[in-house]
Amino acid sequence: MNIIKLSAIDSTNLYLKKMASESNLENFTVVVAEHQTKGRGQMGTKWTSDRFKNLTFSILINIKRFKIEEQFYLSMAISLGLLNVLKGQVKVPVFIKWPNDILAVKDKVAGVLIENNIGGSFIKQSIVGIGLNVNQENFSNELENVTSLKILTGHTFNLDELLLKIVNSIKKFVQFIESNRLQELKKLYIESLFKMNKPSMFIDKNNVIFLGKIVDVDKNGRLVLELENETIRKFNLKEIKFA
Ligand code: BTN
Repeated sequence: MNIIKLSAIDSTNLYLKKMASESNLENFTVVVAEHQTKGRGQMGTKWTSDRFKNLTFSILINIKRFKIEEQFYLSMAISLGLLNVLKGQVKVPVFIKWPNDILAVKDKVAGVLIENNIGGSFIKQSIVGIGLNVNQENFSNELENVTSLKILTGHTFNLDELLLKIVNSIKKFVQFIESNRLQELKKLYIESLFKMNKPSMFIDKNNVIFLGKIVDVDKNGRLVLELENETIRKFNLKEIKFA
């Protein structure tokens, strides 16, 4: 496995994106940093992580003839790859919170940021960034509902070993896409989804709180909710949050 280790960088996603545009990198090349000065999260947020304590890394993934309309399957594969490793490390229940946060009970332990390089109707290359809280025990008060493997288990983890386990697990789930087992992948994703089929409170883009139940995720990755009046509505990431 081609693993590039950096002591400090702005963002492993940015670094890997640049490297991939300048040279021909092996599939599943990994860039891992002990510290990021500008870690990026979903929807323009920041990703902060204590130096040396956690995993912040990016993986380059090339899937042949990967259609744009199937891009959410990569998100499913990544979440499942992460989830399966974490299930083996902690005793509490772990879930995927749509679209691709990983929760332990109800607290976030990992986040994923996927950036795709698109050519025509295909995804030529994906940069998959993962931030996993491993050995950090204290988090800023601004961050709510956050946890780490150390908080959950009481012990310190070896970051290199954990990284290998995660990349290998992700490879396994990416093979579902390569061999066109998309429905199987989706079934596994849905089975691990936080609040699946449970009435829950959500906030829409106008800040209105409402009750709904997740009944599915469609092939474009939209969250499918059944509302109180039994109507079905679909939401994309910008349109909805958990309350
Ligand atoms: C999120 O939950 O908002 C996604 C967080 C993704 C963070 C990781 S850390 C490694 C990679 N480099 C970045 O700048 N971001 C991702």
